[in-house]
Amino acid sequence: MRYRHLVCFIGLVLGLGLAMPTSAQQARIKIDPDRVIDKVDPLIYGSFVEHLGRCVYGGIYEPGSPLADEDGLRRDVLQAVRELGVTILRYPGGNFVSNYHWLDGVGPERKPRLDLAWHVLEPNTFGTNEFMKFIRKVGAEPYFTVNMGTGTIEEAQWWVEYTNVKEGPYYAELRKQHGFPEPYGIKFWSLGNEMDGFWQLGHLSAEDYAKKAREAAKLMKATDPSIRLIAAGSSDFRPGADPQHWNRVVLEELKDHIDYIALHIYVGNPDNNYYNFVATPLEMERRTAIVKGLIQQVLWGSRRERPIYIAWDEYNVWYRARTGEALRGRRALEERYNLEDALVIAGFLNGFIRQADIVKMANLAQLVNVIAPIFTNEQGLFKQTIYYPFQLFARNAHGTALDVFVDSPTYDTEEFFLGLGERTTKLENVPYLDVSAVYNEENGRLVINVVNRHKDQPITTELIAQEGRFRGPFEVYEVNGPDIKAENDFGIERVKTVRKPDVSANGTRFTYTFPPHSFTQLIGRLER
Ligand code: AHR
Repeated sequence: MRYRHLVCFIGLVLGLGLAMPTSAQQARIKIDPDRVIDKVDPLIYGSFVEHLGRCVYGGIYEPGSPLADEDGLRRDVLQAVRELGVTILRYPGGNFVSNYHWLDGVGPERKPRLDLAWHVLEPNTFGTNEFMKFIRKVGAEPYFTVNMGTGTIEEAQWWVEYTNVKEGPYYAELRKQHGFPEPYGIKFWSLGNEMDGFWQLGHLSAEDYAKKAREAAKLMKATDPSIRLIAAGSSDFRPGADPQHWNRVVLEELKDHIDYIALHIYVGNPDNNYYNFVATPLEMERRTAIVKGLIQQVLWGSRRERPIYIAWDEYNVWYRARTGEALRGRRALEERYNLEDALVIAGFLNGFIRQADIVKMANLAQLVNVIAPIFTNEQGLFKQTIYYPFQLFARNAHGTALDVFVDSPTYDTEEFFLGLGERTTKLENVPYLDVSAVYNEENGRLVINVVNRHKDQPITTELIAQEGRFRGPFEVYEVNGPDIKAENDFGIERVKTVRKPDVSANGTRFTYTFPPHSFTQLIGRLER
């Protein structure tokens, strides 16, 4: 080999080596059922329905369609949502809610309004009672957001009265007149949406928001003391924004009234850098740790009995449908997902489990058509790639989160933009294997969730029980596809869950090889 070629070759090998180790990859995962983080709250498997694009109209609700039931709800969508295993659904927005007046969407006379957030005419034919029919049919918990933008604190209180008070006051009686004699008892209410964002209709400073939200909280809780309140935390991480100032002010002012602080994160891959992208959920974990510290600081010395938790009540991959016509109107935010996006969603869910002591709710934004796992047309639907990891977690990963020891090869990301317009970030020592484990002490059921972030190498891993013994067989479910850009479409499923042969595991160790760019869920038993 001539000298110049040799130099190029060595350079290439060293260059690639930064992101792609050269030898076969190996790792160890140690499981100890005594190393408990906390119970995994089933509410981390939530999602979100906003009046946006075709999420409601043409998504979950399409009266007149041959696919619709007697309430105008799409039967195929109901079925896909049930199969997804979603536990809680946030409604009705999102940016939409900051100019939404819930009274326009109840009773016999509906008022069409301009939706100023997404630039369409909102017919208001779907509202509180239609949503409650939907939620009962899918068996999820409702979670309402009040309008803290153009709405008043009284309007927020009237909504709680309408939904939760049995009889007597005007709005409770109005619900009965509308044909719904029993109150719904909606437990979760958030005090506005992304009020820190300059894009929000009625955007406020941290101080002004905190005062308005505090007064709304007093009225709402006085109406129904059993409700749980969620404050709008930071969503704006662009240069110039001060997200932790916002969170600190909100926590200080609202600490005696709220049960959760809501955070939002959207990640993307605009530079088409796979390794940067699949590491993005770690930034969510970093932000969680910061806000956990703020909560501890604010509650230090307080007599409050219940803790304040974090609700990641919007998270997802969103960077394609972010400009021009993709951002407005009836076909807004129709993002199509691929395999690498599915791995990112598995990474988020692993992160929520690893931080199960503080993250007690999370909502994949959104449910249908709009940055969503379910995608419809007039004839039917298909399940996007992100549907499958979410489904495996939501259906199986219930119990106690364990603090797992992982010894995996790692890589560093470049400095990169996490989401559109945000500050750059750099993540170091990112393990190729991203792992969480959930244990059920009562029946010994152990669920191990593993993303192999490596693009082209399998990772042979020794799984070790540090306490107790594995009792096989372990069922194996894998989400993977022909390549990282593989997408699904109507009638085409390139990325989905495949059940692999069971693994026998009797004793304190077994070995499993995680294929490149995959998410694997192992389900078996650990006996003490
Ligand atoms: O989920 C799409 C939008 O993203 C929501 O309306 C808003 O809250 C966020 O900016």
